Amino acid sequence: MITDIELENRIGVLSPARSFQLNISSPSNIALERVGGFTYLEGAIIIRITKNTFKAFSYVCTHNGCILGYDKNTNALVCPCQCGIYDLEGNVIRGMPVKPLRQFTVQREGDVLTITDNYGDNTDICNETKW
Ligand code: FES
Repeated sequence: MITDIELENRIGVLSPARSFQLNISSPSNIALERVGGFTYLEGAIIIRITKNTFKAFSYVCTHNGCILGYDKNTNALVCPCQCGIYDLEGNVIRGMPVKPLRQFTVQREGDVLTITDNYGDNTDICNETKW
């Protein structure tokens, strides 16, 4: 099982900025044009859940650090390594992970999404001195 420090190091790519933007109409983000599409950026998996709803999570499985994907048929984040499955709130619903997935806030203004990591306030894996 991945340690808290290892996990933090893998998902710490958002720090120190803890926020980034992406334009969903950019050719590099073409996967986000359709519902069910997803992309990876800055340590996050960004998913278009519905026409107007986007979600973002750390793409690192909390069990052993594999990179997660999104299954639009089950509306779940899935780990290809040991079949860990998370719901769209980041809760573990099946498999080896015991910790929830780190979720980021997504704000949309036009075609621009702002992804922000607000995790520093309420997590046991966050070491404030590293931010
Ligand atoms: S790394 Fe084991 S379930 Fe994801």
